[in-house]
Amino acid sequence: MTLHLATADATHALGSQLGNTVQPGQILALSGDLGAGKTTLTQGIAVGLGITARVTSPTFTLINQYEPGTRRLLLVHIDTYRLGDSATTPLAEAAGLGLDEILTDAALSDDHTDGAVVVIEWAERIAELLPPHTLYITLTPVPSDPDARTATLTTSSPEVAALLRELAPSE
Ligand SMILES: Nc1ncnc2c1ncn2[C@@H]1O[C@H](COP(=O)(O)OP(=O)(O)OP(=O)(O)O)[C@@H](O)[C@H]1O
Ligand SMILES: [Mg+2]
Repeated sequence: MTLHLATADATHALGSQLGNTVQPGQILALSGDLGAGKTTLTQGIAVGLGITARVTSPTFTLINQYEPGTRRLLLVHIDTYRLGDSATTPLAEAAGLGLDEILTDAALSDDHTDGAVVVIEWAERIAELLPPHTLYITLTPVPSDPDARTATLTTSSPEVAALLRELAPSE
């Protein structure tokens, strides 16, 4: 599915729709260059999950966790941009940080959450770790309009694809 996002608000609104509809354990793999709008989309996802804390760019912290809001889903926000800066590969460092466990355990509930939603910026750097139900979202600039982006959403999961079809087309 391809969407035209005319402004940063449209990107935020798409995130909010996603946050409203995602199921526990959903992995959202975001790709797109610096400033493409990955964090803007994530801020919308947090709003859709009913999380009131402000989502910031985790570039220097790698992983930020936000306590569940009205949807009782924990938001795990990962930015792999700096992964592999030390003398190791991104995948080896991801394993050392337990990213594979975060991905496989995301659907597990406990006393205060119904599970987690995991959003990964620069997800292509850990492509091998991503499960089949991952929703891939790529944001690309529109050459003729600095405020616009194109979003392509793909998944190999029929269930996640069905959820996508319920999203109202963005203006
Ligand atoms: N249609 C749009 N969608 C998203 N952001 C937009 C759009 N138009 C303009 N912008 C601007 O582009 C910037 C996107 O920044 P953002 O931090 O979300 O990008 P990013 O992909 O997370 O970058 P980084 O790779 O550095 O983490 C913001 O300043 C935002 O206002
Ligand atoms: Mg970012």
